[in-house]
Amino acid sequence: MDGSGATPRERVRPLLRVRQFREFTDLPPTDEELGAIADAARWSGSSTNSQPWRFITIRDRQVLIRLHEAGLPMTRSLRTAPSAIAIVLPEGEHAVSHAYDEGRAAERMLIAAQLLDLGAGIAWIKPEIRPLVAELLAIPAGWFVRTLVVVGHPTEAALAPKGQGRLPREEVVFEGHWPEDRSGG
Ligand SMILES: Cc1cc2nc3c(=O)[nH]c(=O)nc-3n(C[C@H](O)[C@H](O)[C@H](O)COP(=O)(O)O)c2cc1C
Repeated sequence: MDGSGATPRERVRPLLRVRQFREFTDLPPTDEELGAIADAARWSGSSTNSQPWRFITIRDRQVLIRLHEAGLPMTRSLRTAPSAIAIVLPEGEHAVSHAYDEGRAAERMLIAAQLLDLGAGIAWIKPEIRPLVAELLAIPAGWFVRTLVVVGHPTEAALAPKGQGRLPREEVVFEGHWPEDRSGG
């Protein structure tokens, strides 16, 4: 408990509320909001502090719609998203650690959006549309985008509880050792 009497579970609850939004109002985030979210991403930790990423903020609805159409169904959130941030990574070596770093940055962006009373979501870019994404975002050779983080104000409907829960705690969290009666499946 802290000074306010909140339990540890209550104190981490804001993190549990961070989730994927896929439907947004027309109201775009401000430049300052989008910039703050990009800053949260660039301050993420990365393997050997290599900071392999570059981030491109996108507000052009025509570009967002082209990405939406090309990448369906994964890019369905871009139908209404007023903005997105692309995580650009170098091709080649260190693919696993880059993917790990990318996930950390993406999750931070989702958390930052929530802290700003916005909503965000992940849209996965299929490898086959990487050339189109490179063209639309003027990405040089040797770099690629796998993750777009969409950002906006969620609609009322999107804010409603989704009922998409998680596995029961006892199936996922073990104390001290793997339980004898579970195969893990
Ligand atoms: C690695 C990864 C890739 C994802 N790709 C997509 C995607 O391409 N499109 C999408 O709408 N959601 C995508 N999601 C969001 C998940 O579907 C979502 O997090 C999951 O259904 C749980 O929902 P919640 O985060 O709202 O609780 C992705 C999530 C992760 C972690």
